[in-house]
Amino acid sequence: MSRYSQDIKDAIRTVPDWPEAGVMFRDIMPLLQDAQVFRKLIDSFVHRYQGMQLDAIAAIDARGFILGAPLAYELGLSLVPVRKKGKLPFATVTQEYDLEYGSATIELHTDAFKAGDRVLVMDDLIATGGTMLAACELVRKLGAEVVETAAIIDLPDLKGGDKLRQAGFDVYAICEFD
Ligand code: PRP
Ligand code: ADE
Repeated sequence: MSRYSQDIKDAIRTVPDWPEAGVMFRDIMPLLQDAQVFRKLIDSFVHRYQGMQLDAIAAIDARGFILGAPLAYELGLSLVPVRKKGKLPFATVTQEYDLEYGSATIELHTDAFKAGDRVLVMDDLIATGGTMLAACELVRKLGAEVVETAAIIDLPDLKGGDKLRQAGFDVYAICEFD
């Protein structure tokens, strides 16, 4: 990891046993509160994705929105929020995915992309990879291409990155936590 991303990693707070015993919750709120580090974070994504000829950023509900919006603004791209079930008013495509306990559903509007659009899928964190994979599948359902998946944090022990790569999606994360 570069010195550049060490600043970002250092600004992420770990809260043990939240929301339940045994979970080490990686909390990005202190990072967002630090204007200089947040700017570094967005700049590092801008640096990676400028010149990749993207058309859109699919940003995952809810923490992915915080990253996708400034990046789409800075790169001049379409911003497409991927929403949890029941929030989008127009016609939708839906994808169910597994959580640690139970399942959840995310949705996109059917007119979110044009066929062949080159899309970056963004979230704050990849744990089991279920959320990111479901978002990628939705993008594909609409005939668009997932160029890469991006997050601030990957948790490699939970093998989400492996799951995404096995499904054919590239993964970029600024930092990892064991
Ligand atoms: C968190 C996180 C990712 C997802 C990662 O979202 O922001 O979206 O979990 O977990 P996974 O890789 O095991 O799918 P959460 O569902 O807590 O929603 P939030 O962003 O609304 O807090
Ligand atoms: N989402 C799923 N697992 C998480 C974790 N350990 N920290 C923050 N968000 C999460």
